[in-house]
Amino acid sequence: MKYFIITGASKGLGEGIALELIKEEHHLLCISRTESDQLKKIAAAKNCPLDFFLFDLAFSHDIPDLMQRVFDSIHPEENSGVYLVNNAGLIQPVSRVEDMDADAVDVHMRVNLLAPMLISSAFIRLSRHMQVPKRILNISSGAAQNPYYGWSCYCTGKAGMEMFGLCISEEQKNEAYPVETMSVAPGIIDTEMQTTIRGTDDRDFIHKQKFVELKESGQLVPPALAGKKLASLLLSDGFRDGEITDIRDSY
Ligand SMILES: NC(=O)c1ccc[n+]([C@@H]2O[C@H](COP(=O)([O-])OP(=O)(O)OC[C@H]3O[C@@H](n4cnc5c(N)ncnc54)[C@H](OP(=O)(O)O)[C@@H]3O)[C@@H](O)[C@H]2O)c1
Repeated sequence: MKYFIITGASKGLGEGIALELIKEEHHLLCISRTESDQLKKIAAAKNCPLDFFLFDLAFSHDIPDLMQRVFDSIHPEENSGVYLVNNAGLIQPVSRVEDMDADAVDVHMRVNLLAPMLISSAFIRLSRHMQVPKRILNISSGAAQNPYYGWSCYCTGKAGMEMFGLCISEEQKNEAYPVETMSVAPGIIDTEMQTTIRGTDDRDFIHKQKFVELKESGQLVPPALAGKKLASLLLSDGFRDGEITDIRDSY
């Protein structure tokens, strides 16, 4: 049995990744504030164990306990691999730096950066004794490498997530059963996050019109397609520890 811990699998890209991983020999452990009924129904129909852990990732202090509960679902005798997909995220607050709301910045950095750091930390600690393949896939963004007017929180969080992944690879490379980590920018995916982006004020996000046009011209990638690419990358030899990549041109 391979175990997949996926944050933000209730909708959007995370749901697309989870859908692709639904198989009898996989056990999906999904973390988000809400559930996906679709995912639960398909998993049940295909005999794939799937659990939702309802949790708000802004509650950083409770993440170690959450991860202990998640790992309690892993049966050592049937474990043939543990995988973590750090996917949950939000785009808000979108504004110029001087207009930032402190509470919104606090929540953003907890969910987009602190949560993947603490979840990865617990994942490495709790899987230390497991002599199986272990991988972390960070869902990043082109915004990690390129500054966008109005997206300073988002760019900073994603850049931090990528660097954190590189540090994990550096620490793990001489372990007998290392945790391999890769960060991937998935392209522009047709999810609620894109709806939010199209709903922002032009003055807060000056590139908004470009995103409106991408949607209108049918250029957004369906989450199921992006999920397929990312799920197969996670399990393939193409998963390269310590690398950061962008798959936007692969669709
Ligand atoms: N869409 C794009 O074009 C695009 C491009 C590049 C990168 N990405 C990245 O892809 C990832 C998924 O984004 P998406 O487009 O699929 O967005 P989405 O449709 O808005 O889904 C976001 C997911 O994150 C979860 N989430 C958000 N806040 C949470 C919280 N406080 N606690 C727990 N879970 C939380 C949501 O679950 P609940 O609401 O149920 O809690 C949901 O499952 C993000 O990391 C995003 O930065 C997206």
